[in-house]
Amino acid sequence: MPTKVAIVVGTKGRGSNMVALLSAMGRRPEVAVPYVVVAPSAESPALAVARTTGVRTTISGVDLRGALEGADYVCLAGYLRLVPPETVAAFPNRMLNIHPSLLPAHGGQGMYGLRVHQAVLDAGETVSGCTVHLVDEAYDRGEILLRRECPVLPDDTAETLAARVLTLEHEAYPTALFDLIEADAHH
Ligand code: GRF
Repeated sequence: MPTKVAIVVGTKGRGSNMVALLSAMGRRPEVAVPYVVVAPSAESPALAVARTTGVRTTISGVDLRGALEGADYVCLAGYLRLVPPETVAAFPNRMLNIHPSLLPAHGGQGMYGLRVHQAVLDAGETVSGCTVHLVDEAYDRGEILLRRECPVLPDDTAETLAARVLTLEHEAYPTALFDLIEADAHH
């Protein structure tokens, strides 16, 4: 039986990581299949993209846990709110997030979007990248599964750095998800 993966998008995200995950599952349906795309509200741009793919979609409102019922794994992809502890607990070591910096650097509450990349530039970093990690009760704190690095270039803006990191995210997230599913299957 393929593993059923729920993807939780945010109110603002474009959904590009969601698309990368859906594409990867499309290539390896014997391992993982999309179960549902969950958005917190009807205004999510990613939700509109999801609806063009044929995947089931739902709007969670405040009942995220209910919306995830029946999923085996959960991938947060642009979800900006803190996941309630009881929802985290329902998916022990099976809820993932991606963050556009090399955690533990430049993570935490309020660190999302271009703010992350501006913080990297302000800190004078020469290397950035992305991190896929397990979700726990704190922002951006769970066990790190995989990181991918890229250079920070002298003339980078937050926008150019974000674009470079985003291409890494699209490879890293499906890789980390499939590696985790396959590792769990062998235990
Ligand atoms: C990504 O940068 C991801 O790292 C962060 O939110 C952004 C979502 O972008 N968690 P998209 O909606 O997947 O394009």
